[in-house]
Amino acid sequence: MSDMTPTGSAGHNPTRHSSSASFDAVDIIRTKRDHGTLSPEQISWTIDAYTRGVIAEEQMAALNMAILLNGMNREEISNWTSAMIASGERMDFSALGMATSDKHSTGGVGDKITLPLAPLVAVFGVAVPQLSGRGLGHTGGTLDKLESIPGWRAELSSTEMMRQLADVGAVICAAGASLAPADKKLYALRDVTGTVESIPLIASSIMSKKIAEGTGSLVLDVKVGSGAFMKDEASARELARTMVALGQDAGVNTVALLTNMETPLGLTAGNAIEVQESVEVLAGGGPDDVVELTIRLAEEMLAAAGVHGADPAAALRDGRAMDVWRRMIAAQGGDPDARLPEAKESEVIYAPADGVLVGLDALAVGIAAWRLGAGRARKEDLVQAGAGVRMHAKPGALVRAGEPLMTLLTDTPERFARAKEALAAAVVIAPEGSRPSQRLILDRIA
Ligand code: URA
Repeated sequence: MSDMTPTGSAGHNPTRHSSSASFDAVDIIRTKRDHGTLSPEQISWTIDAYTRGVIAEEQMAALNMAILLNGMNREEISNWTSAMIASGERMDFSALGMATSDKHSTGGVGDKITLPLAPLVAVFGVAVPQLSGRGLGHTGGTLDKLESIPGWRAELSSTEMMRQLADVGAVICAAGASLAPADKKLYALRDVTGTVESIPLIASSIMSKKIAEGTGSLVLDVKVGSGAFMKDEASARELARTMVALGQDAGVNTVALLTNMETPLGLTAGNAIEVQESVEVLAGGGPDDVVELTIRLAEEMLAAAGVHGADPAAALRDGRAMDVWRRMIAAQGGDPDARLPEAKESEVIYAPADGVLVGLDALAVGIAAWRLGAGRARKEDLVQAGAGVRMHAKPGALVRAGEPLMTLLTDTPERFARAKEALAAAVVIAPEGSRPSQRLILDRIA
């Protein structure tokens, strides 16, 4: 035992945990620092004590860094996840009498798939309880996108959520404060201490919320590439395997797809412009990659929920998914027919040369959209509904010098310069006949 208390002030006894185990935060940090293994009791004490403010922020920061550098084994990750679930409430949709399924994306640029996907899956009688978040940094948040619809409300009570699931079959809303509160505190700390990029911490963070949310089955869309957390396929595969194992261990039927995030999904990165593109998909159109991924994820969600032989593509073509979308938006106060906000100012970026567009970097586009006002740098910032980047060509397209490649959108034109800086090296044009690698779905992990 160290001579310091868990709060870091010298000379007192270690704080007692309500479950009667007694630990010292510094011992726990040293164990991880020295490549040791934390016991279930140590982990449950750590998460509980941190949530209650007994472990100091600097101690948790040190422990996170030790975990980032030295990892955790499967049992530790599972115990860490269970402790985070136990820090809050666990939702239960069994009273619905319907199968439930959810999708989680690890975050990408132009990733609006949840919007068409949730109503599409609900068409087939599987309820979709989607608890989503707001964006921070270069990846957009689903709630920010939906909040560009006039009147739409993200905050629902549990009763409202349950009623909407029973009536409409799909709900996308904000996660309440009682869902895995340990993760909220921990994530904010990781964000400012360079400890986000740890597979055990990412996996436990995501899965604690998804398991607490109470879904019966879960499909994970693990993004790989410049615009994703995981830049290479091997790390993405490890993250996917870790999360699938956590889900299965908790009795949630979980599968994962690894999908390409070298280039943005679809032709839009922003808020209102992504809603508009999602509505195009629900109307049977939209960009091929968004349609392909929406259909594939719907098939996976339906199969995971025990529904086989459904044809999601038909439900996009014949308007059934659109009907559910309209009801889902209206149920949360939104007007599905309202005109979406538009940015006041625009600036076009032109192709610098003739050839084949072989690269359009997702991270650069995400940063540009963020700098234009579509995303926030701090939690309390407001986003601009109309801001973002509209792309006119995707990798594989033949382009001519001087042709529009992208339109930048914002209400505040002083932002254009910094957005253009982000895009300076985003576009790669190769001689005619070149072919970019265009695989969208890289692997499936079950
Ligand atoms: N998303 C989360 O919810 N948690 C992480 O740690 C990373 C991404």
